Amino acid sequence: MHTITLQEGADLDGFRRAVRRLTAARTAPEEVLWSVGAPSLFGDDALASDADAPVFLPQAVGPLIETVVCHGDPERYALLHRLVWRVLNGERALLDQHADPLVHRLERLDKAVRRDIHKMHAFLRFRALPPTAPGPEGGERYVAWFEPDHHIVEAVAPFFVERFESMVWTILTPKGSLHWDRRRLMTGPPAERPDALAHDRVADDRFAEGWLRYYESTFNPARVNPTAMRAEMPRKYWANMPETAAIPAMVRSAPARVQAMLEAEAAIPRRRMPEKAVAAMARQAPESLADLNRLIQRSEPLVPGATQAVLGEGPEGAAIAIVGEQPGDQEDRDGRPFVGPAGQLLTAALEEAGIDRESLYLTNAVKHFKFVQRGKRRIHQSPTAGEVKHYRWWLMTELGFVRPRLVVALGATAALALSGRPVSVLRERGPMAFDGWNGFVTVHPSYLLRLPGDEDRRRAQAEFVADLRRAAALA
Ligand code: URA
Repeated sequence: MHTITLQEGADLDGFRRAVRRLTAARTAPEEVLWSVGAPSLFGDDALASDADAPVFLPQAVGPLIETVVCHGDPERYALLHRLVWRVLNGERALLDQHADPLVHRLERLDKAVRRDIHKMHAFLRFRALPPTAPGPEGGERYVAWFEPDHHIVEAVAPFFVERFESMVWTILTPKGSLHWDRRRLMTGPPAERPDALAHDRVADDRFAEGWLRYYESTFNPARVNPTAMRAEMPRKYWANMPETAAIPAMVRSAPARVQAMLEAEAAIPRRRMPEKAVAAMARQAPESLADLNRLIQRSEPLVPGATQAVLGEGPEGAAIAIVGEQPGDQEDRDGRPFVGPAGQLLTAALEEAGIDRESLYLTNAVKHFKFVQRGKRRIHQSPTAGEVKHYRWWLMTELGFVRPRLVVALGATAALALSGRPVSVLRERGPMAFDGWNGFVTVHPSYLLRLPGDEDRRRAQAEFVADLRRAAALA
């Protein structure tokens, strides 16, 4: 029996080294005892050798390992070693066997860690500390306290560095700490709550104030469900979140505000996702937006007929990306997004909202025009959910290159593509977390064009402009 001791927390490097050595020595999972407690130790000479053989695993296994090592379950390393052993011994597609007890358990661990990461991204709040003397770290500094369930502190670090790159901040948790000085990220030991929240160290709560105003302005009364709210934002996080003070009053006023809302846009018909096509796209691994655009241009439309693929347009690094449904007749001919009637309405609304169209990145969930020919006219057809899914990988990869601070979905198709679920636009309009992006949902300009009465159209257009202003303020 071999005993392997890894570091406390998520010791990904230690696990990887151990697995390489175990694999080189053909050591089966039944012969290994895993434990934690620094530093990494490989128990005996056979495993302590430097003879690390590379281990070639199917693509999906690596990300699963990276997530599951963050789980607090003491059996996580043993489970992962069993997975690697089975994959390397003839079960290469093991992860597709969702009913397999090992796969099922690992999927649950993976999901729990992802959820924990999502909560830390969403619910961590910084507070301002007293300014320090001038120097590289001089000026305002911020501190946050958070209690994650799992060992995710290092996993969330890139997110906070990217979001708050120009601030000096410290994140303290019972599982470890992070410090960012605008140039370097440092990891530190676990902390205790009073370090972060001692009142004499918190100079003022301007940050908290800001959050409170943001939360009130983004609050969507139609989504009030106190039970779900508590499940999504468990009470243990409330003490560190200034906006929770505003919740009772907002919940009380919700029903009246919901009354004022209109009904949902039609649901999108569902169709099976063409898995093979999506997998083939994912294998292409473009290295830049230009690379990706070349792939999109070379691709066949899912539904034949389109003149060309219509690519996104606007600066990489734009603060806001606007995502529409699909190119229309005019866009299909010109090869540019939002140049037809809906695009012109969008441009006018942006102007009214004081937003420069040129500063935005504009794109579509689906890159080809889908239509039926009626005489000389080409009549727009909504894409099916399957078609939206087919194009989703492109859209997400595209956004990954553009890296906007906020992604605005125009209409139900864009919201479906970005959130992965059917969205009722009129009921859920407003800020919404998309898959890894700060998002915002509003109506599609073509909905405004279709509204019959002048009065209704004017009101809806004013609401659309207000949404655009709100999105710009958020971004
Ligand atoms: N509608 C869209 O959703 N996108 C366009 O580019 C044009 C119209």
